[in-house]
Amino acid sequence: MKTKYLTFGCVIVGCLLVSPFLVHNYLAQQEAAQEVVAPPQVVEEVKTGLAAIYYYEEDKADRYTAYQELHPELADEDIVWQVNAGLDAPFYENIQPADTTAPCLIVNKYYALSADYVPEDLVALPSGKKATRETAEAYAAMDAAAKEAGCKLYATSAYRTYEYQNTLYNNYLKRDGDVALVDTYSARPGHSEHQTGMAIDLLGSFGVLRDFKDTPEGAWVKENCYKYGFIIRYQADNENYTGYQDEPWHIRYVGVEIATAMRELGITTLEEYVVKYIDHQPPTVEATAESTDC
Ligand code: DAL
Ligand code: ZN
Repeated sequence: MKTKYLTFGCVIVGCLLVSPFLVHNYLAQQEAAQEVVAPPQVVEEVKTGLAAIYYYEEDKADRYTAYQELHPELADEDIVWQVNAGLDAPFYENIQPADTTAPCLIVNKYYALSADYVPEDLVALPSGKKATRETAEAYAAMDAAAKEAGCKLYATSAYRTYEYQNTLYNNYLKRDGDVALVDTYSARPGHSEHQTGMAIDLLGSFGVLRDFKDTPEGAWVKENCYKYGFIIRYQADNENYTGYQDEPWHIRYVGVEIATAMRELGITTLEEYVVKYIDHQPPTVEATAESTDC
């Protein structure tokens, strides 16, 4: 009996001695199980200089540098959009096929249409010249509004075939005998927006293209054409980018959204708009705030 009590006592004392270790181990295991694994820290690369511009394209880094050396007077933003638009190459060098499926078709001295390119849906304007259906519908709406304002518009030229543009350009060349001069007012075949069916040359009541600007029609078109989706494509302030003299009579259909946005942004060059707002999207206010969060 005595031995029994002694054994029982030893067991109790043993338990009392061991239990703190068991409790400690148990708690440590629970803690380990509950430990939250911290997510890996995302270190955002802080971009500086040209690379901080949202339409910067890594693969053009060397071209930006070379263009900047040639044009130290240009702002960083201008260096980047101009190189993206291909303006670091001379006109009519580095010619690529125009992307006729792009959301905004660019045809210029770098992007050409093939000789057999004909827009699918050409329809006749009131003057008998042809344009794409969408262009013709927009023109009809603009024409009606112009009439209400007392202006009479006449589409003297619209869609032109590759062959017609070829003849036109070569006739100018025969007349002026100076490629550099002709290139400032006439597109080489394949490079004319008229082949897209989305460009129209307008005459006002006085019937001479070069006077269009000074007619009531010219003034009305300048102020109102964006409402119908047209831009005046070649203007005095974008001659360096388009390579053409001011053509206040040459309107290009781009759609109301783009025409209105360009007007609001004060952008007159279609290529600049395409780089900044179609090829790339400006960061939203929230994204900008997020990226500057500490
Ligand atoms: N006159 C314009 C630039 C053209 O020939 O398409
Ligand atoms: Zn034209």
